[in-house]
Amino acid sequence: MTETPIHDPVKNKKANPSFPVFNALQSHDHEQIVICSDPESGLKAIIAIHDTTLGPALGGTRMWNYETEEAALRDVLRLSRGMTYKAAISGLNLGGGKAVIIGDPHKDKTEILFRAFGRFVDGLGGRYITAEDVGMSEQDMEWVYSETKYVTGIPKALGGSGNPSPVTAFGVYMGAKACAQKAYGSDSLEGKKIALQGAGNVASTFARHAAKEGAKLFISDIYQEKAKALTEEVGGTLVPPDKIYGLDVDIFTPCALGGIINDDTMDQLKCDIIAGGANNVLDVENIHGKQLMDKGIIYAPDYVINAGGLINVAGELEGYNEERCLQKAGKIYDTILDILNYSEDNNIPTHVASNILAEQRIAQVGKTHKIYSSKGHFSGRAGETYLTDRR
Ligand SMILES: NC(=O)c1ccc[n+]([C@@H]2O[C@H](COP(=O)([O-])OP(=O)(O)OC[C@H]3O[C@@H](n4cnc5c(N)ncnc54)[C@H](O)[C@@H]3O)[C@@H](O)[C@H]2O)c1
Repeated sequence: MTETPIHDPVKNKKANPSFPVFNALQSHDHEQIVICSDPESGLKAIIAIHDTTLGPALGGTRMWNYETEEAALRDVLRLSRGMTYKAAISGLNLGGGKAVIIGDPHKDKTEILFRAFGRFVDGLGGRYITAEDVGMSEQDMEWVYSETKYVTGIPKALGGSGNPSPVTAFGVYMGAKACAQKAYGSDSLEGKKIALQGAGNVASTFARHAAKEGAKLFISDIYQEKAKALTEEVGGTLVPPDKIYGLDVDIFTPCALGGIINDDTMDQLKCDIIAGGANNVLDVENIHGKQLMDKGIIYAPDYVINAGGLINVAGELEGYNEERCLQKAGKIYDTILDILNYSEDNNIPTHVASNILAEQRIAQVGKTHKIYSSKGHFSGRAGETYLTDRR
């Protein structure tokens, strides 16, 4: 692994136009791409395994109506690489992978499509473990699960971990406290003003934790009744969605959608800290991450602070225990502090600092693999225990 930040333009070390697929693999150090085709069911899917140094590649399956095969390939390569970093920085023994099914999630779903996909996942023998992502439903995942044990994030009724958002929200809360520690020398949220974007699953649980500690919450949602109900529950203040960016607060907690730190919102920001659960918060990482640093705003990288969801599904692989997952998500506090300190010491944006620390862990653990272990054929990680426990 190199120290190239995630989402950098493709490196294409030794690009050779005769080998576009290998170029794509090598440009960001991917290990394997599996192209899955089953004309009978109409399945067209791509599974990308980025890096398995730390363990089996885990990442969700996305169903999306991609306009071209190239767009699907680009997306799955980008997303699988992101999973490697997320697992690595979270201290998990998992690699990064992702799958995309090409099709319209509103029209093209059938039982046989997902069962066919499940058989391809199964054929990888545990090198890739899938989960639910955009465009997939619980029912779809049940069909996948009927063909392979290499599925995680399944409903509690089927022996899985169920809804991950309580663990995600707890991780976001602990990450926000770590940012407060860095900014104010105390991690207490008592009296801190927090602007919360979204009143959904993650936001609600976050709001309860923060309110319990005495934070003053300013809450917005495009569904006003949702925001109103949460505001009343936690004793906060209701804010129109477009006013949330410019509030004079200590912490901005985006828990709704991605790309919200962009050219339009940057100048409105008056907060000291951005720490929230939403994915892909920075519109253009390398531009807006740097601008936040220049403005002196502490940014908790999204994929680190919202890793509770991944920690939760990873917990399923060792026999699910919510307490243990919450405990692990609590460690996001230390991880965020390490990243903030590294970022400050090296004068680099926090998202770059976290990428480097993730790569360092992968490189260091990778080096121990040169030591022969008699357990080489049985890692004790995902897969084995998972199978016997659940089936
Ligand atoms: N649920 C998890 O465990 C988890 C894990 C990792 C990351 N995330 C990310 O966290 C975010 C929230 O996830 P969630 O599970 O709470 O989703 P959710 O659908 O329960 O909540 C999102 C809320 O945001 C609101 N919203 C949408 N656009 C908005 C806008 N412009 N302004 C204000 N509110 C708006 C929606 O109405 C909804 O109430 C998402 O970006 C998700 O990808 C969630």
